[in-house]
Amino acid sequence: MAYLKQQRPEKVTVPSLRASKERGERLVCLTAYDYPTARIIDEAGIDIILVGDSLGNVVLGYDNTIPVTLDEMVNATRTVRRGVARALLVADMPYGSYHTGADVAVGNALRLIKEAGAEAVKLEGGARRAPLIKRLVDEEIPVVGHIGLTPQSVHKLGGFRLQGKTTQAARTLLDDARALEDAGACAIVLEVVPREIAQLVTERASVPTIGIGAGAGCDAQVLVIHDLLGLMFDKSFRHVRQYANLRESVTDAISRFAEDVRAGVFPSEAESYKLPDAAATEMATELDVELPTTPALTEKGDKG
Ligand code: KIV
Repeated sequence: MAYLKQQRPEKVTVPSLRASKERGERLVCLTAYDYPTARIIDEAGIDIILVGDSLGNVVLGYDNTIPVTLDEMVNATRTVRRGVARALLVADMPYGSYHTGADVAVGNALRLIKEAGAEAVKLEGGARRAPLIKRLVDEEIPVVGHIGLTPQSVHKLGGFRLQGKTTQAARTLLDDARALEDAGACAIVLEVVPREIAQLVTERASVPTIGIGAGAGCDAQVLVIHDLLGLMFDKSFRHVRQYANLRESVTDAISRFAEDVRAGVFPSEAESYKLPDAAATEMATELDVELPTTPALTEKGDKG
């Protein structure tokens, strides 16, 4: 972790993304939705923090990202902002927030930038989003594109499946990536596409590609933090590498707490507050009561 920090101590910015690609540096991206997680990720030296609309799945308990609202994204992004100093902070534009016209989309993107403190917004879709991306960039709103498996199109796609498997689909992906870059996107997320196609896109693009389920040939890799930490309930996708099992660790900690409470060994004397002797004497007299001699617990929980 310290290694990462020393390696890239300078603030990651929109222009520095392209410079990193030119230098051949691999960038690292993780999602965050709250202050402590964002702060830990930032202090670990991760380059890009994405407030993803995967918030819907991993925090809000929905089956997909469709119901996530702009207010929920603004709130999460504002919270994450307070924990991020170095990483580039990107916020997802949720489903419905950029679909009904460019003026509405600009207004909504401005909320994420101005109210919530994001440095770029991300939106899903290929060439058909190019005019909108150009408009946003013209309004000083940096944009990250997102093609391949676009979770907001789950109904249209009929599920979460590998994209870009046929020649036609691969050609569309290449054209989409070019259109996004020409429109001014500062990076492009490639989700669940064959690694060969992702590498081709990466080689042809002058902005970084950020892969998830897109193989090692991308310029950057992103994972949903809950998947990486093992803090989820469903079986994860094959492209996820789980580095911890927080669900198990958290369950263990909670169970031990419950056991201690039920056994009367929490809280101990050291974890509670004693009435000062003088106050105890005064109170006993004034209230005409015998104050309980507190049944102090030893470290083992036996009454001392
Ligand atoms: O919402 C999200 O977390 C994402 C990443 C998976 C790229 O879009």
